Amino acid sequence: MKVLITGIDGYSGWPLALHLLARGHEVAGIDSFVTRRRVREVGSWSATPIPAWPKRQEAVRRLLGREIRFYRGDLARYPFVEEVLRTERPDAVVHLAEQRSAPYSMIDVHHAVATQAENLTGTLHLLYAMRELCPEAHLVKMGTMGEYGTPNVDIPEGFFEIEYRGRSDRLPFPRQAGSWYHWSKVFDSGDVMFATRIWGLRSTDVMQGVIYGIRTPEITDDALLTRFDFDEIWGTALNRFVVEAILGMPITPYGKGLQQRGFIALEDSMQSLRLAIEHPPAAGEYRVFNQFDAAYSINELAERTRAIAEEFGLHPTIEHPPDPRVEAEEHYYRPVHDHLTALGYRATRELNEVLRELFRDLRRFRRRLEAKRHVLLPVVQWRNADNAATLTARAGGPSAGPAPPPVAGTPPTRTEA
Ligand SMILES: NC(=O)c1ccc[n+]([C@@H]2O[C@H](COP(=O)([O-])OP(=O)(O)OC[C@H]3O[C@@H](n4cnc5c(N)ncnc54)[C@H](O)[C@@H]3O)[C@@H](O)[C@H]2O)c1
Repeated sequence: MKVLITGIDGYSGWPLALHLLARGHEVAGIDSFVTRRRVREVGSWSATPIPAWPKRQEAVRRLLGREIRFYRGDLARYPFVEEVLRTERPDAVVHLAEQRSAPYSMIDVHHAVATQAENLTGTLHLLYAMRELCPEAHLVKMGTMGEYGTPNVDIPEGFFEIEYRGRSDRLPFPRQAGSWYHWSKVFDSGDVMFATRIWGLRSTDVMQGVIYGIRTPEITDDALLTRFDFDEIWGTALNRFVVEAILGMPITPYGKGLQQRGFIALEDSMQSLRLAIEHPPAAGEYRVFNQFDAAYSINELAERTRAIAEEFGLHPTIEHPPDPRVEAEEHYYRPVHDHLTALGYRATRELNEVLRELFRDLRRFRRRLEAKRHVLLPVVQWRNADNAATLTARAGGPSAGPAPPPVAGTPPTRTEA
């Protein structure tokens, strides 16, 4: 199949491209490199050094003997989106290119607006361009399990049967997102569902759990590594914990640490996306996949990280800073995840095994971690309307607001992120 990946330079876009190429699919990609710029904006970088894009393309040529067609640009520019779809006419579009950090969206009004304006605009541009240029193509849209929040009942896959005042219906399950970023995903879900219905498109809305790990079988060389963010804004809790343990810092679950989330290994997330791509829905069908393997509490992640760290001769303690977020620190959590299993999905990786792999990989990049140890502890507070000054002080320079996406057509960045 011919697959277009938006956000191909990102944490999950890159390994997805490799995964699909290795299985005979044709891959093209879009990226504006805005994640690289925004990680720099908060004074951080990826633990794994990521080569400039032309070097990534060259590594794929050399190591996999395959080609990725690439379009540098921002989904905010509709003529650019149209031009790419007109050239590519893909069978599937996997849409990953969004501002994906909850803390980044909570910095201040400018970061909140940038997150929602960009995410909704990109999705709407893709929907309109698909309707115009490839209405038969399948949109695989990356949402998040965070759209649902933590209701006190089981979470179905997108829809549920409800009886109310003597009548019944199948309705979208209520969303209760916990950041401006997560709300942007909720609004996206509404837009994708609506466009699918009125224009007869095909779409899969993936409620993605938190992804962990940096290895997939196709990553056989450092030149093919994907990014690994570990700072408080771009890194996940598990990423921060592993880095804290390596740097001899305490592992820091926020608050009580009883918050639970769904998690999935990088390799298995790629397997799930491929299964979605290879089994498209019918025209006019909008379907929702809850994409995760297991739910863990943040304390459980901290404990497991501590135990694996011991195997590597490290002896981290666990400390609980106050939770900078506004969220339930103790709650019921039982989402359903059957749709992917019905398509043949089987988990292949286990958390402890991936944790060992992370320790092995990241210890090689210890100097890069060491240089950024000051960006691990939380600065962005959900209750503060303006966290920018504190962040700017920590980053050591003035910041005028969210790093804008670069202008399309400018030369690719040579900086490592
Ligand atoms: N990584 C996770 O654990 C996780 C969990 C749930 C959902 N998701 C979702 O999956 C998607 C991919 O996540 P990721 O971790 O790979 O993020 P990422 O930031 O590493 O990758 C996104 C890529 O898209 C590019 N991009 C962003 N906005 C763009 C735009 N307007 N135009 C062109 N390019 C743009 C970025 O430069 C980046 O390379 C995101 O939508 C994210 O919200 C990720």
